[in-house]
Amino acid sequence: MLAIIGGSGLTKLPGLIIRHRQVVRTPYGEPSGALTFGELDRHPVIFLARHGYGHTIPPHLVNYRANIWALAAQSVTHVLSVATVGGIHPEMWPGQLAVPDQIIDYSHGRETTFANYDGKAVTHLDFTWPYCQVMRQRCMEALRLAGEDYLDGGTYGCVQGPRLETKAEIDRMARDGADMVGMTGMPEAYLARELDLCYAAIAVSVNWAAGRGDSGEAIAAEGIEAMLGQAMGRVRVVLATLARLCCEAAEGPSADPDGQQGG
Ligand code: HPA
Repeated sequence: MLAIIGGSGLTKLPGLIIRHRQVVRTPYGEPSGALTFGELDRHPVIFLARHGYGHTIPPHLVNYRANIWALAAQSVTHVLSVATVGGIHPEMWPGQLAVPDQIIDYSHGRETTFANYDGKAVTHLDFTWPYCQVMRQRCMEALRLAGEDYLDGGTYGCVQGPRLETKAEIDRMARDGADMVGMTGMPEAYLARELDLCYAAIAVSVNWAAGRGDSGEAIAAEGIEAMLGQAMGRVRVVLATLARLCCEAAEGPSADPDGQQGG
């Protein structure tokens, strides 16, 4: 079963036929909200708004562990994160979509692991390729089928937020190799790996990062709002296609092994 974690601009999933909502309690506290069980174009999905349904939880206060744990406790095998980002790479202009394949984590002070919570020995999981390759390919197929142009790969730099960056910080991130900047990619991706969920992200550029493109002097909030509305309409079509692909893969004779990670 596919779960979709919606970020900024996606507190509701347009077109989702809601069957029921479920409050899930976890050993890590409250998730961002009740899980919404429904159907996208007749294909079952679970939806969770990362920032809460009223968009009240800032990126550094999202309970990533509770969110991922709550999804894993259902029959979720695959997770798609819809992640709004600022564009650093010259091709990450506002409106551009990407399926990142790498992460640099600049966040701090977040609960980053389930390990040792229950006194078990600490493990060090491989995270060379932080996104599930099976899920990445499926996202790109959904993007292709929806007629969307996208970048295959790219490095997501996860900052702490909630403030936006300085130009010098973005220049440094560019030197590090970051192609886009967002605030929520970590520890979400790693926690999904810990619980064996096949996790990938569709990144939606909603502005040029600080000091890039038309953000040379400042990042205009109105521009972000307008771009969010426009881009999320397109993403919705992609998600319906992705839900279908996930169902077909789960049902088909050549079904992908659920939760398979890949390098
Ligand atoms: N910086 C960090 N996170 C973001 C941005 C940005 O410019 N745009 C959307 N999410």
